[in-house]
Amino acid sequence: MITLHDKVFEPFILEDEILDRIGTIGTSLSAEYAGKNPLFIAVLNGSFMVASDLMKSMSIPCEISFVKVSSYHGTSSTGRVDELIGLNTDIKARHIILLEDIVDTGVTVDKVVKLLSVAEPASVKTCTLLFKPDAFKGKKSPDYIGFTVPELFVVGYGLDYDELGRNLRDIYKLKED
Ligand code: IMP
Ligand code: MG
Repeated sequence: MITLHDKVFEPFILEDEILDRIGTIGTSLSAEYAGKNPLFIAVLNGSFMVASDLMKSMSIPCEISFVKVSSYHGTSSTGRVDELIGLNTDIKARHIILLEDIVDTGVTVDKVVKLLSVAEPASVKTCTLLFKPDAFKGKKSPDYIGFTVPELFVVGYGLDYDELGRNLRDIYKLKED
């Protein structure tokens, strides 16, 4: 068990299992995208570890770019404006694999897909290490899912609790008392 800030977490999905599953996804993606030079777009900060291991499991030429989603109050009457920061590659006519650490309500992934679509990519598929179907409010589930998890708070392997826990090799879940 580990403590981060004020909360206690217990082991949930171990590193070996994570790497094994990512290897399987890498094999599938390598087959599906052969000859297409796919561009992974990983959403920071949480996806840095899965991005690294998934890239290593790809056996075909592929590229990666990292983005952040920021939301600010624009001056227009529409209020909040979402913006993608860091995308310095032209994605027009490219095959995009959007990579997330976790899809919870699906709001983040939805936003990013919308923002990317404006630039006319050839295709956009979504891949997430973790998926919480019970919290999901989007229309379409992610195309590639590492693990389906219940509505629990999890940390480790890139995921944080108030910025702590990202460095952990395994995934932990909040301990119920
Ligand atoms: P969304 O609700 O699908 O938009 O997810 C938003 C973000 O919430 C994710 O990218 C994560 O950064 C964060 N998040 C959701 N569930 C968890 C969790 O269990 N642990 C850590 N972060 C989470
Ligand atoms: Mg995240």
